[in-house]
Amino acid sequence: MSRRVAGAVLIALGWGCTSPSPGGDAVPSAPAVVVGAVAPIAMDPFPETPLGRAAQRGLAILDATRDSLPAQAGNALRCTSCHLDGGRRPHAMPWVGVTARYPQYRSRAGAVLTVEDRVQECIERSLAGQRLPNDDPRLRAILAYFAHLSRGVPVGSRVPGQGVDSATASPPDLRRGQQVYATQCARCHGSDGLGLPGLPPVWGPHSYTIAAGMARVQMAAAFIKRNMPFDAPGSLTDQQAVDVAAYINAQSRPDFAPKLGDWPNGDAPPDVPFRPRSMEPSGR
Ligand code: HEC
Ligand code: HEC
Repeated sequence: MSRRVAGAVLIALGWGCTSPSPGGDAVPSAPAVVVGAVAPIAMDPFPETPLGRAAQRGLAILDATRDSLPAQAGNALRCTSCHLDGGRRPHAMPWVGVTARYPQYRSRAGAVLTVEDRVQECIERSLAGQRLPNDDPRLRAILAYFAHLSRGVPVGSRVPGQGVDSATASPPDLRRGQQVYATQCARCHGSDGLGLPGLPPVWGPHSYTIAAGMARVQMAAAFIKRNMPFDAPGSLTDQQAVDVAAYINAQSRPDFAPKLGDWPNGDAPPDVPFRPRSMEPSGR
């Protein structure tokens, strides 16, 4: 399907602006009613204070990541390509409450991570980019936004729709996945997976790395099941979501060299697409 049609689909959904900014990030206004869409988690208005203004700047950075962090962002994605609705969409890894969830032990790192560490992980792995210095005002602004979203969430509690959902299915079939991709995804993400103007790639050199959470089939399937197709979320069966997730994750994407050091305690989940050193027979 042509680029124009993909744009028209989004305009029909109420995305006023689909023309990409010079950095390639579409900065659309909130979509109108979308079939099957789940309402974003409510957020208080930004207060007219220095902290409130920082939080607002943080959201702008997360929405226009390539323009705001040109030296850090390494691919065509922005943070809110995955953390939908400004990180307020349930089951799309919402940031609501994130400030109350860290520090947290993470088995992939085998260490206790702060929320800053977690942001750096997504910059390096999901954005194929370079870490942001911890004293950078833009990182502080991102953290101010997270704190704004997390007001009133008790430390250690779970937020409804936290993380992603799960998808239960038989083992994936790549041929079926290719079919789902061609009929349900290609019109927005391109038949070559490389994205279309204002719409992100799902594989290829400008996509997320092999060491990103989204590169795991179960993680991607759960995200896709709840959130894609963007204009008809929830319309795929679990099996279709798993099949198409396996299909897109079987395509080429950027590497992340330090990945073999992941899960240093040998406890990688089964859908990790590489074998950490700790899990080689001679490892550890
Ligand atoms: C390709 C998709 C993708 C992009 C782009 C992305 N992330 Fe993520 N992010 C994820 C996934 C998937 C998870 C959940 C991983 C898990 O549960 O282990 C996650 C988790 C997080 C978390 C932890 C959330 C929690 O509840 O513990 C934070 C914070 C975060 N990302 C920040 C960012 C920031 C900041 C950016 C932009 C610099 C970004 N992400 C870009 C996919 C993405
Ligand atoms: C109507 C257009 C549309 C359709 C159809 C669609 N998507 Fe998306 N997709 C989007 C938009 C818009 C985003 C979020 C981009 C943003 O806001 O930056 C997105 C984000 C994503 C992401 C996370 C970001 C990335 O590029 O890695 C994945 C993965 C994804 N879609 C997979 C799929 C799959 C699989 C299908 C088919 C089942 C599909 N999409 C169908 C529009 C669409």
